[in-house]
Amino acid sequence: VEAGATNCQFRLAARPEGLPGRDCWEMTEEAPREPADGEALVKVLQLSLDPAMRGWMNDVPSYVPPVGIGEVMRAIGVGQVVESKHERLAEGDFVTGLFGIQEYATLPGDALTPIDADLAPLATYLNVLGVPGMTAYFGLLDIGKPQPGETVVVSGAAGAVGATVGQIAKLKGCRAVGIAGGPEKCQMLVEDFGFDAAIDYKNDELLPALREKCPERVNVYFDNVGGEVLDAVLARLARKARIVICGAVSQYNESSMRGPSNYMALLVRRARMEGFVVFDYADRYAEAAREMGGWMAEGKLKGSEDIVAGIETFPDTLLKLFRGENTGKLILEVASA
Ligand SMILES: NC(=O)c1ccc[n+]([C@@H]2O[C@H](COP(=O)([O-])OP(=O)(O)OC[C@H]3O[C@@H](n4cnc5c(N)ncnc54)[C@H](OP(=O)(O)O)[C@@H]3O)[C@@H](O)[C@H]2O)c1
Repeated sequence: VEAGATNCQFRLAARPEGLPGRDCWEMTEEAPREPADGEALVKVLQLSLDPAMRGWMNDVPSYVPPVGIGEVMRAIGVGQVVESKHERLAEGDFVTGLFGIQEYATLPGDALTPIDADLAPLATYLNVLGVPGMTAYFGLLDIGKPQPGETVVVSGAAGAVGATVGQIAKLKGCRAVGIAGGPEKCQMLVEDFGFDAAIDYKNDELLPALREKCPERVNVYFDNVGGEVLDAVLARLARKARIVICGAVSQYNESSMRGPSNYMALLVRRARMEGFVVFDYADRYAEAAREMGGWMAEGKLKGSEDIVAGIETFPDTLLKLFRGENTGKLILEVASA
């Protein structure tokens, strides 16, 4: 690192009520920490902004501990090693890891995963070949178990996870129907991502639209949003349907979560609803990345990224997720390689 380099960081200053405003964050600056034996110092290039971050800001037990007040906000990113005291890593290597919202991260080398920047653009490692892609792959295939000819509905369809779910559903011979906010996103799903149909939950009436777009009912529903959309799809299930609970972004900023009221549809349709956490599949990521990388190379799967430059924009950029202002994977660009 250049002498005098500073590490700009965003720390959690207060727990939010509702949408996380600027008062939730404190911007701090300190010198990048020299790596100790076994560690590497990474220059952060791109950071993944995720709806899950909203949950990590709450002081409640979850699948990971909450971010503590005063701690650097947790975030996954891609970066480049600038100094290494780890035998496996060398200066210039591209890596992915849990860097946090900051310009430099000093981490144990064992917590860094090398990535091949010649194989795919860096952002792909935060999208299709990263956590969103793994989430789509294992959530759909392992929990949803789509069969050829079945109808797969996915909400949050124009987002990182959703767009990949729809494309994998098509690859598996299913009818793919996406639910997203606004006519532009819906048009993109059909024209660019090959969905069979799309429903604009902000302008269409959900029940008639689901009847029209899913004439054979819904065999797999991959739910990213919860709330009213979940209730509407429950009303259109096929017998033995599988509902994959991936997330509930419509509820993350509410003081109390609204559960499905239509759950007796599970009984009537002999259906099953099951949640999952992608990290449980970590030992199978390489296998999934190989298959998805193959589909990308064949032009059968593509990602789209919404890249916003400037670490200082973090508080406002994060809100794009909850206002539906992102299309594809939302990424904060901190520096260029
Ligand atoms: N289970 C797991 O292991 C796991 C792992 C990763 C992600 N997830 C979950 O997967 C879901 C998608 O994550 P992502 O990273 O792909 O985010 P994303 O879909 O790229 O971005 C969030 C999108 O959610 C939609 N949205 C926001 N507020 C909404 C509301 N009130 N009602 C309906 N839709 C709303 C917006 O799209 P519109 O414009 O269409 O409204 C927005 O673009 C999230 O629920 C996330 O928590 C789960």
